[in-house]
Amino acid sequence: MKIVIIGAGGRLGAALMREYREKYDLAGFNHAQLDLANLDDVRRKLGAMNFDVLINAAAFTNVDACETERDRAFRINAETPGILAEICNEKEAKLIHFSTDYVFDGEKRAPYTEEDQANPISAYGESKLGGEKNVLAAGDGHLVVRVSWVFGPDRPSFVDAMIKRAQQDEKIDAISDKFSTPTYTHDIAHMLLQFFDREIAGGILHFANAGKCTWQEYAQWALDCCRDAGISLKGRTVGALKLSEMTRLRQGSGGQAPWVARRPVYSVLSSAKYTELTGTAPRAWREAVNDYITRFYSKK
Ligand SMILES: NC(=O)c1ccc[n+]([C@@H]2O[C@H](COP(=O)([O-])OP(=O)(O)OC[C@H]3O[C@@H](n4cnc5c(N)ncnc54)[C@H](OP(=O)(O)O)[C@@H]3O)[C@@H](O)[C@H]2O)c1
Repeated sequence: MKIVIIGAGGRLGAALMREYREKYDLAGFNHAQLDLANLDDVRRKLGAMNFDVLINAAAFTNVDACETERDRAFRINAETPGILAEICNEKEAKLIHFSTDYVFDGEKRAPYTEEDQANPISAYGESKLGGEKNVLAAGDGHLVVRVSWVFGPDRPSFVDAMIKRAQQDEKIDAISDKFSTPTYTHDIAHMLLQFFDREIAGGILHFANAGKCTWQEYAQWALDCCRDAGISLKGRTVGALKLSEMTRLRQGSGGQAPWVARRPVYSVLSSAKYTELTGTAPRAWREAVNDYITRFYSKK
């Protein structure tokens, strides 16, 4: 099976490259090698290749920048994914396109299923929802995989920022009234393996580690795991910050830049459909975070 990964330099794309390199005939494009804003280039480069599965892990992921660069956000996150699906149709290949929990408004208080109505409250969420629609409209068999709070070794995310702060400061805060589920790139790579066949599961599928938490609980767990792994930290306890304060301060950046885009306060994704299709359940987020920290921090 020949697989091509777009976004091979990103947090998720780089992890997929590593996990699949030895198992498949694999090629990848990072941003410098393929710009999704350049449709002629996309058509020319992908049109010249043969593959069975095209995985799009590239996106304009800066949620605040999407508010001020709407045209760019819609080009990269909405328009181009539809073109990718058309290119796949010509080759009878399957497109696996990644999307986000931010397509939801966050008003629900139970895990979002694939059947729940999307209602984005940011330009990023709107553009990603546009991408989902364009991919699914292009033909049956393509798969949209929504993920949340992605972490992994290939690019720092919230958990790494919290650990870094705890190494430098005694006082650490994180938001205590925003809920979702941290999800490990390694686990996404393994969950995805079962869906490469075009005949299996087109449509939308949610992938997340099991359980839910706030950012404060997530950060606290990460520091607890570090302590258990013998990693020395100055900060031990994560204080609570309210989401409303985040219109003034930005998490993880030392409180410098304010948030521009609105974020859903609750965006837990249900993995029930994944479990129904595969007969397996994703592991708990706490286990996944502990695994990440013991593998990638203990050695530092
Ligand atoms: N991270 C999360 O918590 C999270 C949550 C929900 C959903 N997702 C979704 O998961 C997928 C993977 O995200 P990630 O966490 O891996 O984000 P990431 O680390 O920001 O990776 C995105 C990649 O896309 C590339 N990219 C940006 N603009 C591009 C363009 N015009 N052409 C080609 N490549 C471009 C980026 O390259 P440069 O860095 O060089 O610009 C980067 O390598 C995305 O679909 C995202 O929407 C992520």
